[in-house]
Amino acid sequence: MNTQFNKFILSEHPLVKKDITVLRDKKTNSELFRAAVTRISNILAVEISQNFLLSETEVETPLETTQGFHLAQDVVLVPVLRAGLGMVNGFLQIIPDAKVGHIGLERDEQTLKPNQYYFKTPLNIPQSDVILLDPMLATGGSSSAAISFLKRQGAKDFAFACIIASPEGVKKLEADHPDVKIFGAALDRQLNDKAYILPGLGDAGDRTFGTL
Ligand code: PRP
Ligand code: URA
Repeated sequence: MNTQFNKFILSEHPLVKKDITVLRDKKTNSELFRAAVTRISNILAVEISQNFLLSETEVETPLETTQGFHLAQDVVLVPVLRAGLGMVNGFLQIIPDAKVGHIGLERDEQTLKPNQYYFKTPLNIPQSDVILLDPMLATGGSSSAAISFLKRQGAKDFAFACIIASPEGVKKLEADHPDVKIFGAALDRQLNDKAYILPGLGDAGDRTFGTL
């Protein structure tokens, strides 16, 4: 569906809408929360990879040689720690040969700015399709900082996969990184005065890892 944003692509899949409801429900425990994040990630991975380029190859069946395909570029998944970790398995189930980098960012709850504490990414980032994973796009500070870092590592072909986005966050990312497509499972109403997404799902890291 087209929203008011140019670069935001909202999943319209009925199973995504069903699982967003599971994530929003405050009674959902961590086990069921992680399972719903994985299922949504499966669908986002299919939608994001739809435009990946292919190279032609030949494959020998037991009967004859025929045309086959492989992905033209490597795929690198980059979860933002911690909550982005919950999306990795769902993406790897669809793109099993993807490499995985990690970026550690934590929002300072006073300044609301991201603090960086860890980076480890594969060397072939410049030749890869890079997919940044973070379930929450709130102010956009964390994802914008992560994308800036990956660009400094040479990343060119980007997508950002989130589960819930705020209008404020999408606006910031479109301004800071107009080249990056954002794929989301829900576009919510607004941020509250602590920069939590409304209606949202609460703290994604805490709900994923049971640290409430
Ligand atoms: C959450 C979330 C994002 C960030 C989004 O992480 O996973 O990384 O907040 O907020 P922003 O768009 O305003 O930057 P958090 O800082 O809670 O860390 P955690 O995943 O370790 O819990
Ligand atoms: N981070 C979260 O985990 N949830 C929000 O609503 C905003 C930022």
